[in-house]
Amino acid sequence: MDARYSFETLISAEELAAKVAELGEIITRDYKDKDTVFVGILKGSFIFMSDLVRKVKLDRLEICFMMVSSYGSGTRSSGNIIIKKDLENDLEGKHVLIIEDIIDSGNTLTYLKKYLSNRKAASVKVCTILDKPSRRETDLVPDYRGFEIPDAFVVGYGLDYDEHFRELPDLCILHLGGKDA
Ligand code: IMP
Ligand code: MG
Repeated sequence: MDARYSFETLISAEELAAKVAELGEIITRDYKDKDTVFVGILKGSFIFMSDLVRKVKLDRLEICFMMVSSYGSGTRSSGNIIIKKDLENDLEGKHVLIIEDIIDSGNTLTYLKKYLSNRKAASVKVCTILDKPSRRETDLVPDYRGFEIPDAFVVGYGLDYDEHFRELPDLCILHLGGKDA
């Protein structure tokens, strides 16, 4: 591993898998018999999405992705969201569940909820595997949430630092400077 960084496991792959199975059961119950569209937010949600869809049992499920980015200063996002890849799916009358890796300020999802509601969806809810409520700048509350985590920068399970470390199976706190720093 790169000596400039060290990794402290916060949530193990096994704990993540157990939580995803739990969320899958709850979502199966809540979305049974509904026309449902899961909208994954790239790139961070790609692993959570692929695990979750295999733990739900829904007859009429559509899976799609959006890519967004937000202009902000430093590590904080802002309300200025840019849609880099939009949906092709027709959402009218369908129940949309946004699948996110982590909610931090809440700015991205506050914008996306409004944006998707305007496309005549029957409902728009939010499912995130991770939540950092201490950093919230909006009143966004996820409808489904895996874990509440402290205000630390985490990588793995799809989350990156400068596009790296998404592939780590455990969710880890990233320490800059490595072990000897
Ligand atoms: P926000 O809720 O609009 O502030 O932004 C959420 C996005 O910021 C997430 O989708 C992640 O891409 C990114 N993000 C926030 N916290 C972390 C972290 O600890 N590690 C990696 N990415 C993060
Ligand atoms: Mg992201």
